[in-house]
Amino acid sequence: MGDLAETQSVPTEDESRRDFLLHATVATGVVGAAVSLWPLINSLNPAADTLALSSVEVSLAGLEEGQAATISWRGKPVFLRYRTPAEIEEARSERWQDLPDPQPDEERVQDDRYLIVVGVCTHLGCIPLGQKTTETRGDFGGYFCPCHGSHYDVSARIRRGPAPSNLEVPEYTYLSETNVRIG
Ligand code: FES
Repeated sequence: MGDLAETQSVPTEDESRRDFLLHATVATGVVGAAVSLWPLINSLNPAADTLALSSVEVSLAGLEEGQAATISWRGKPVFLRYRTPAEIEEARSERWQDLPDPQPDEERVQDDRYLIVVGVCTHLGCIPLGQKTTETRGDFGGYFCPCHGSHYDVSARIRRGPAPSNLEVPEYTYLSETNVRIG
């Protein structure tokens, strides 16, 4: 028992100084890392105004009738779909005034063929299925959100389920017949 007390020694002045220098170096290292990481983190979080202005140009030329593609815009998926004549006719034959979020198909597209919508369910933000032909498109041929069962039609309008509104149509401009700037 007494031996233990005897084996502990009081640090010499040199040892204390060395420990202090060691701690000081570690502290400097941590601060240095924090400072050098900041510009990187900052560059990954663009200011809100930069984000708001960001836009993306997309060519629809590679899409064939019945095909769909998904791009990323402002961190969200945007669904592009080249609708068939039958799908366009179906979207227009509905009495849109009776739909849960009433909107005519004509107001949701600029070119009848191309549906362009944000692929985020308006219920709680899941990504609906239906872009791939192998995926279920729900009871109305558009999109189906499996999270809680929202069905969207070929105009991406909500038809059944808990989603309160249609898939959002982003702001976009046609630069040519098949080139679109989104945002
Ligand atoms: S998030 Fe799509 S139905 Fe709930």
